[in-house]
Amino acid sequence: MEKLNVWIDSDCGIDDAIAIITACGLKELNIVGASAVVGNVEVDKTYRNVRNVLSLIHREDIPVYKGAAKPIIKPYFSASYFHGSNGLGGAEIPESKAKHEEKNAYDALYEKARELGGNLYVAALGPLSNLAITIADHPDIVNYIRAIAIMGGAVEGGNVTPCAEFNIFCDPHAAEVVFKSGIEVIMCGLDVTMQMKLGQSDIDEIYAYGNKVGDLLYTSTITTKQFYRAENERMIYLHDCCPLFYLAHPELFKAVKCGIYVETEGEITLGKTVTDVYSDHKWEDRHCKAVMKIDHDRFIDMVKDIYRSYEE
Ligand code: BDR
Ligand code: CA
Repeated sequence: MEKLNVWIDSDCGIDDAIAIITACGLKELNIVGASAVVGNVEVDKTYRNVRNVLSLIHREDIPVYKGAAKPIIKPYFSASYFHGSNGLGGAEIPESKAKHEEKNAYDALYEKARELGGNLYVAALGPLSNLAITIADHPDIVNYIRAIAIMGGAVEGGNVTPCAEFNIFCDPHAAEVVFKSGIEVIMCGLDVTMQMKLGQSDIDEIYAYGNKVGDLLYTSTITTKQFYRAENERMIYLHDCCPLFYLAHPELFKAVKCGIYVETEGEITLGKTVTDVYSDHKWEDRHCKAVMKIDHDRFIDMVKDIYRSYEE
């Protein structure tokens, strides 16, 4: 089986950590590099978290590069109220001993994409600042990336505002650059990611496997679950797993071809991903996909299988 080469760009918070851990257990994927971006917390912390999570699963061989410290235009808006000040809900994991890479995220991603002759997918789990800067610095990268699967946006609704999802709201101008780049964008928005619930009983089951990744899942989500109490359900959304599982297992999902634009000016609609999924009028440019549905039970079974497979 030929594996897909995937680069992970992450603002490593709680669900990013779960996504990285599960992605490394998906046998269909070959994770060739990772980069950290500002988002849930500051970039120094997201960089540290990506490195430490990879080290926890003994994947120090995956190089990690630091990227943008702020959105390209808009002032930074943190999600530490949700992910805790360290980005991992206060959970502590040992410091990675991997060497620090000297290159920045933009040059590193570009060089890897060229080295692979365009045989590369990007999974973007945070604001799209790193990708926008990479496209600006190296415009021909559009010829060297097969598709960018993002967690971000929504066909309908928002989470951080009634109109906008956090990753797009955090850096709407960067998102606009990415959607207009011509690269196929697979949008795993809230429409599908809010179907990706991991309940308290699932978390307890994973914790009982007795390994370090289960321990991290359990401890990092303690405060997050308080948030969803409002919905009368102790659970978390595994938003950031979506782009990675979509790349590995598209058969689990329903996706529709569409056009997507980003609102970069509206006072109350800033960061909205405006799609033509439900409209009679279709945009001329329809090179994106919106992922709308997932087979939840098969997905959760796979997550559990991967967590169970980690030995210590
Ligand atoms: C997205 O925002 C972040 O808080 C999560 O990590 C996810 O990428 C959900 O809106
Ligand atoms: Ca994220």
